[in-house]
Parts: sequence; structure tokens; C-alpha cells
Amino acid sequence: MSQKEQKINVNNIKNKKNLEPVVMITAYDALFAKLFEEYVDIILIGDSLNMSFNGKKDTLSATMDMMLYHATAVANGTKRALTVADMPFGSYTDERTALKNAIKFIQKSGVDAVKLEGGRNMATTIKKLCENSISVMGHIGLMPQQVRYEGGYKIKGRKEDEAKNLIKDAKALEEAGVFAIVVEGTLSDVAKEIANSVNVPVIGIGSGVDVDGQVLVFSDMLGFFEEFKPKFVKRYLNGANLVKEAVKAYANEVKARAFPSEEFEYKR
Ligand code: KIV
Repeated sequence: MSQKEQKINVNNIKNKKNLEPVVMITAYDALFAKLFEEYVDIILIGDSLNMSFNGKKDTLSATMDMMLYHATAVANGTKRALTVADMPFGSYTDERTALKNAIKFIQKSGVDAVKLEGGRNMATTIKKLCENSISVMGHIGLMPQQVRYEGGYKIKGRKEDEAKNLIKDAKALEEAGVFAIVVEGTLSDVAKEIANSVNVPVIGIGSGVDVDGQVLVFSDMLGFFEEFKPKFVKRYLNGANLVKEAVKAYANEVKARAFPSEEFEYKR
């Protein structure tokens, strides 16, 4: 196996701190995971799938069964990238529940690690998972699972005490044993300070460039999810248009009896 093909582990990710940016993307099935993994370090089975794939308005109704199904599909399709499964809302309300559900991800789906949202309030839970040999990625800043509680998606770090608390959160997560931390929807200068405050990689989403890596939701960055485009999303492909054009061409050819032409036929 060449170095490029070697399986990436959590230590490889940690070692990238101050050396090279970590590249992370979401995927929800084996098909896309296979396409992505040559170019990325981490594939996240994010609970964002509840919006783009399940058509819900937020992530809160994602269930363990759903996440296990998609995590298994991604793990099946991935050889090299590190796979991380999002623990859905309500699946880590206390240490016991968190441990039981995190073990399900590792044993049943075969992913390498889990991610959960929260700062100092989650430190003892994360410590418990790490003590049980489960690799954990933290997630602070804008936490989508809090959207109903907070009454919307709120950019973080605008107030001084909020910025200070985020740094405390990051330090608590590092102390608890996370191998990396996602910082979402946070002012760029605050995200930079967070990255400078800990020795594990800080992976940003909507948090500027001065962090240790980036993550984007694949259906956003490939332009498949048309309903909404947050400011921080760069569309690298106009996926929705390409797909629509292709399906339109197919439909037109079927209606005109132009497909299948001879080359697509089985003949005697
Ligand atoms: O669910 C998800 O896709 C995520 C990313 C936004 C980091 O948590």
C-alpha cells in the first residue's frame, strides 16, 4: 500500500496541527464516499443528512437508526479516509447513553470515530468515551442541534465573554481527549484564537481561514442543495443544474423514442 493509500488514523489527523490543513467533507453513502476519499482526510457522516437527504428543516429528528444506516454505508465505501459519525440529538444526554450509542457506531457501522456537539458541559461524557477507546471529535461554536433552543442559527463569538467561553470550551474538550474540534459559525478572529489555544486541530466551517482545516457539507459545496446557501458555502459545482439537465435530456429522449438507440440494445 503506498503512503497515499494508507488508512488515515486519528494520530495522523492530530499530527497535521501546524503542518498542513485537514480536509474534511460530509458523505452519507458509499457512492459519494468513494468519490471523495482520494482527496480528503476525513469523511463526516453528519446529521446534516436529515436536512438534505431526509428533507427535514433541521437536524433534530435524525435518529440513531438513520445515522447508523448512513454511517455503515460510508464505512463500507471508504478505505483510506478517517470516518467520523455524528451522534444525533438525544443520543448523548448522559454518559451511559452516550457510551452505549457511541459503541453502536464503532461496532455496528465500522466508523473510526464519533462527533458530538458541546463544550465544557460535554467534557466528562467525552472523557468517558475516550476512556473506553472511542475516538471523539468535538463541535463548538454554532451547534445546529441547539437551533430550536436558541431560536435560530446564531453566529458565535461576537461578545467578548462568548469568545472567552469558546476558548474555555475548546481547552476543556482537548483536556477530555478529543482528537480534533469542529468550530462552526464563529467570527474568524475568534476561531483563530481558539485554534491557537489548543494543540489539537481546529476544523472550521463558516469560521474563516486561520484554523487548522475546513469542513463543508458535500451537498452544499456541490450545489445539490438548492433551498438555502449560507454565506460561508462556496459552490464548487452547480450540481442541481447539471442533474436537472441530464434528467431532462433523458426524459426527452425517452419521449421521442430516441433512447435506447442501437448501441444500448442486446441483439441476437
Ligand atoms: O452535520 C454536519 O454535517 C456537521 C458539519 C456541519 C460539521 O456537523
